[in-house]
Amino acid sequence: LRDQLGTLAADQRKEMLAAISEASGDRALTTEAISSLVDGASDRAVSRLAFGRDGEAEIAKVRSMREIDTLLARDSEIDGIKHALNGRFVPPSPSGDLIRSPAILPTGRNTHGFDPFRIPSAFAMLEGRKQVDRLIARHRADGFELPQTVALVLWGTDNLKSEGGPIGQALSLIGARPRFDSYGRLCGAELVPLAELGRPRIDVVLSISGIFRDLLPLQTKILAQAAYLAASADEPLEQNFVRKHALAYQATHGCDFETAALRVFSNVDGAYGSNVNHLIESGTWQEEDELAEVFTRRKCFAFGQDGQSRQQRDLMQTILKDVGLAYQNLESVELGVTTVDHYFDSLGGISRAVRKSSGVDVPVYIGDQTRGTEGKVRTLSEQVTLETRTRMLNPKWFEGILKHGYEGVRHIEAHVTNTVGWSATTGQVAPWVYQQITETYVLDEAMRLRLSTLNPTASAKIANRLLEAHQRQYWTPDDDTLSSLIMASEQLEDRVEGIGVETAA
Ligand code: BEZ
Ligand code: MG
Repeated sequence: LRDQLGTLAADQRKEMLAAISEASGDRALTTEAISSLVDGASDRAVSRLAFGRDGEAEIAKVRSMREIDTLLARDSEIDGIKHALNGRFVPPSPSGDLIRSPAILPTGRNTHGFDPFRIPSAFAMLEGRKQVDRLIARHRADGFELPQTVALVLWGTDNLKSEGGPIGQALSLIGARPRFDSYGRLCGAELVPLAELGRPRIDVVLSISGIFRDLLPLQTKILAQAAYLAASADEPLEQNFVRKHALAYQATHGCDFETAALRVFSNVDGAYGSNVNHLIESGTWQEEDELAEVFTRRKCFAFGQDGQSRQQRDLMQTILKDVGLAYQNLESVELGVTTVDHYFDSLGGISRAVRKSSGVDVPVYIGDQTRGTEGKVRTLSEQVTLETRTRMLNPKWFEGILKHGYEGVRHIEAHVTNTVGWSATTGQVAPWVYQQITETYVLDEAMRLRLSTLNPTASAKIANRLLEAHQRQYWTPDDDTLSSLIMASEQLEDRVEGIGVETAA
């Protein structure tokens, strides 16, 4: 934390301030204005540079940015911990995402995570509804009808950072909202009347992470209650897909209605993740359907209104048949869907499970919430393209990463493996992505040598993973590219085994 926040250098502060300003919802300060602010220009001068004027309102904006900059430049962590170790009072502070909530500064205070009785907030409900509208609008613009069921991945941390934004999205799809008691504490869910909702209630399959299950038990029950209330509502079936599907399931399976209305799924207690990431990492799988299999086996524990979970594999597979789209939010500028393996493990995993149940490749969308409140909806393919261009193929990015030597190469390898994870689970990665990664990291001789010197194991893994992607038909290199890639892979493997190191070096 000290490294990240304690003593940020001027250029790091400039970048951070630009992101904070952009996310604030106000008119953002220009990069030039932020730069001059950090370099010590007066409030008036910065205001004129940013807004072309120096009225009171503009100066106030500049001043609030300067306060943030002052706090970013100061190291309060060591003082805070010394204070605590001396048994003195450490003032409380909120925690969260710095870009969304600059009020977490100064750090080095006694942070509280969140108040579980206030999630989702009114703001999160408003944002959740807007994001659902954007998602449906995008889906329709892509030529699809209103989905009957949406597969939604919910993570714990994302909800903590946004006062429960993704929970707001889930409730909004169903057409429900939270209920609060007379003390303003969250106590249940209620339905939004159809007339107010203005569209049918959309059915959901909510795949919550193990972390969400552990951190947000009250919210887990409330989501289960919202689904049950929707399923029980005496409304026309074409206006209520939750009820339509619950009644159909009950009729064919002869189960009780409560079971037919279960819509919140996670791991069994104490388990985390779908294990699809481990399969991709090891490469020990034959058919993509095995990934769907492992996902449903791990994530088919359905949570009821009592907060208890029971294995409901058949129910989950039945609901997945009607899924029209799969969706997850992206909440941090620091991570992309190809940076870590958890995104394809959850969203990729469920997309593949939908494919296995329904026989159809459904659209997969990412809601980019990293730049303030106007979340962008991208198809998975667009998101991977964006990340490939801005990170993997961007010299500014990879030169920065390679300063970290051994670990930097491992990072690049992780991007390649995660990209294969998306191909395997969704089939929605454009083949050129592999071609250009191959050209940049393997066929470029200077780069290949550099990577293999810094981290022989990871560099061999990159070449082998690209070959694996070809063998699994995620791309088809031309003959020259393929033979160069095979040769490079053999050379890199030799290097791992210590053969010919002197000549390569
Ligand atoms: C979560 O916050 O739920 C989460 C974070 C990282 C990986 C997977 C899940
Ligand atoms: Mg992990």
